Amino acid sequence: MTRRTRILGVGSFVPDRIVTNDDMTQWMDTSDEWIRSRSGIEERHWVEPDNTTTSDLGLEAANKAMAASGITAADLDMILFATLSPDHEFPGTACFLQEKLGCPGIPAIEVRQQCSGFVYGMAQADMFIRGGMAETVLLVGAEIHSKGMDISDAGRDVSVLFGDGAGAVVLQATDVDDPDTQPHIYSSHLHADGTYAKELWVEGPSMTYAPNRYSGDWLERGAHWPKMNGKTVFKHAVTRMPEVATEALDANGFTVDDVDLWIFHQANMRINYFAAKQLGIDDDEKVFNTIQRFGNTTAATIPIGLDEALKAGKLEPGMLVCIAAFGAGFTWASSLVRW
Ligand code: COA
Repeated sequence: MTRRTRILGVGSFVPDRIVTNDDMTQWMDTSDEWIRSRSGIEERHWVEPDNTTTSDLGLEAANKAMAASGITAADLDMILFATLSPDHEFPGTACFLQEKLGCPGIPAIEVRQQCSGFVYGMAQADMFIRGGMAETVLLVGAEIHSKGMDISDAGRDVSVLFGDGAGAVVLQATDVDDPDTQPHIYSSHLHADGTYAKELWVEGPSMTYAPNRYSGDWLERGAHWPKMNGKTVFKHAVTRMPEVATEALDANGFTVDDVDLWIFHQANMRINYFAAKQLGIDDDEKVFNTIQRFGNTTAATIPIGLDEALKAGKLEPGMLVCIAAFGAGFTWASSLVRW
């Protein structure tokens, strides 16, 4: 018997407010046709312009994941929170969520790997569990993008793509005799290349400004809005996601045809189309996309995808699930799971 990690339960949450592509045209020069044809996105959910925080969304998803797992916050040994849109600069959003969950004392860790954050978090949870430091870990991916983007013409290339939302899983130690039938994480594979750090980033405010981080003209330049070199991101994503998915399959002696369900990060339907083509996936039904309804929710796309796949009856016990993500950093990662 080998000590492994399994996903015990999943939950997700998006705010009620739906913003369609047509709604976006009230703020910027864009169109449903442009957004849909370039990205596959039809609508996204945004929080109301109020004081809702990322940890509020995370809490909703966490409560659902814990309910689906039959546990309460008192059963947790650790919280991992993946986000690029934290409640505050510090402390980490994991601490704000912990306060809301009412489980003081356990470690609460922030994961800052953007669109790959949830998969990085899965790897960390798996290592903490397999190493014996934790039995039960809550992993949350949550974002509020709507309050952090430039929704004028100047920011339209970015702001049409992103949505708000949260997803969570409860991970727990499990003893595995037969990896082909028993639920567990086979392995996770993590990569980064900081050469491309400024291809998708938010520059300011910054500790590089002197004499303090609010100095200079960054606000006038709009350096506090996310900036993206879309074509470069696209080019790397369609290469790295298939590459890291293949790495996970090779590491465990599987082929593309063995995979029952592919959960790719949801940045762009075209990226996922190309990734599937590169991998030679011949059955579209095996690739589960949610970007049409939610846009890119960054660290939340993977758990939202798992939860939506479950609700749609596409994810069943015993299935082999390959998860792959790519995002700012650049970072990319995969995880192979027996469901
Ligand atoms: N509506 C209308 N026009 C827009 C627009 C919008 N929301 N955003 C940008 N444009 C314009 C640009 O200003 C540019 O106009 P110009 O040619 O007059 O200069 C033109 O559209 C660019 O179009 P195109 O060359 O077709 O863009 P593209 O094929 O590179 O698609 C992205 C743009 C952003 C959709 C694409 O590059 C992409 O998806 N990249 C990856 C983004 C991503 O996944 N990010 C997250 C990673 S985790």
